[in-house]
Amino acid sequence: MVQPQEQIRIGLLGAGSVGAQVARTLVEERELISARVGTPVRLVGVAVRDPEAPRDWRIPGELLTTDPEELIDNSDLVIELIGGLDPAGDLVERALRRGAAVVTGNKALLATRGAELHALARHSGAVLRFEASVGGAIPILRPIEESLSGDRITKVMGIVNGTTNYILDQMDTTGAAFDDALTEAQRLGYAEADPTADVEGHDAAAKAAILGTLAFHAPFTIDDVYCQGISDVTAEDIEAAAGSGYVIKLLAIAEKQNGGAVLRVHPTLLARTHPLASVRGAFNAVFVVAENAGELMFYGQGAGGLPTSSAIMGDVVAVARYLRAPAPEPPTISDEIDLPALAVENAKTQYYIDMQVTDQEGVIAQIARVLADHHVSIESMRQPGSVSLEGEVDDDAGGNGAQVQIVTHLASERDLQATVNALEGLDVVKSVDSVLRVEVEN
Ligand code: HSE
Repeated sequence: MVQPQEQIRIGLLGAGSVGAQVARTLVEERELISARVGTPVRLVGVAVRDPEAPRDWRIPGELLTTDPEELIDNSDLVIELIGGLDPAGDLVERALRRGAAVVTGNKALLATRGAELHALARHSGAVLRFEASVGGAIPILRPIEESLSGDRITKVMGIVNGTTNYILDQMDTTGAAFDDALTEAQRLGYAEADPTADVEGHDAAAKAAILGTLAFHAPFTIDDVYCQGISDVTAEDIEAAAGSGYVIKLLAIAEKQNGGAVLRVHPTLLARTHPLASVRGAFNAVFVVAENAGELMFYGQGAGGLPTSSAIMGDVVAVARYLRAPAPEPPTISDEIDLPALAVENAKTQYYIDMQVTDQEGVIAQIARVLADHHVSIESMRQPGSVSLEGEVDDDAGGNGAQVQIVTHLASERDLQATVNALEGLDVVKSVDSVLRVEVEN
């Protein structure tokens, strides 16, 4: 049992863009935060690698230390904002073993060692909170964990990476190529110099694992998440999708299906009328479907020092209140529910197939036959215009090729892949240019 604390000592690990804002709030707003907690809180130290490094807010020299272990050992509440697995993982472990509460925004750590850290926290009676790990400022984890705890969540679907949403939005609104949109995102500071983690979907996959874990009360890791990034999305894909009334978004999806859960991150076609389609620029949003609540959407800034510090401080106040007056904490995850992670081959979703075909009689019949043979049903088919066989759009009906776009009904990944292979084998199909998953409104 945690003993009631009359003063909460807070140790901060890391003072990057989020950490500096958290330090500022804890120093400048100390009275307000203490009043909200109901007992004095005090920032006792900030562990950094280089005390001289320039920061967004100048941290008083007497708070800076290069010894995170000593700081942890003298704190009731540790805020971990170093990020990554190492050394952050060992430091969080040290804090939890001591029974200190931990607030972190570290999605990589949660998506990799979450179950182990939760077990450790349960064992030592420590609290572990991580609202800032998904969706920056957006309150999404606590609503899932607490507000919806009397309901059954069936699906969570989010735009949880601002960098890729910015890039796809630029491509959609300006017609820019992927590389140009990425360069612009880097110039504006949305994308890192090495954009791999964002662009290839790894950042979103970690967040999908965290969302799935909380939504379905079962422990998932990033290894359970199928992951496809946006680097292969072309300006032509975006234009073709737009012509059919869709926008392409990188979605992180956790969905209950076939007695298990499928977790996946991939570029997805969304009808422009879908609430997530309106999420522009670097903003994030998470769409939740629950049996009784129906559809919910949470929207806001998914990154940045100030917005993310808001989520960290929300957790700090909640945890500090608990330390002031400890009460039994509900489990954040439960191993009781046996919900296996299923391979993406088991997922059923709708698909969009865009192909170039020869423009002659019987072609559509052959294509329809292939889909029927593989148990894939067609929802809609469009032939937007004639094209030359080199792929040039030719609005004169004299072109000798045609573009065909098909949206299927729900189909399994396995059937769809077999369908695409068979379509590519048809003489009349010159190329299958894109195959994308489609999410419709539930
Ligand atoms: N790199 C992330 C993004 C923010 O682009 O949204 C931190 O999770």
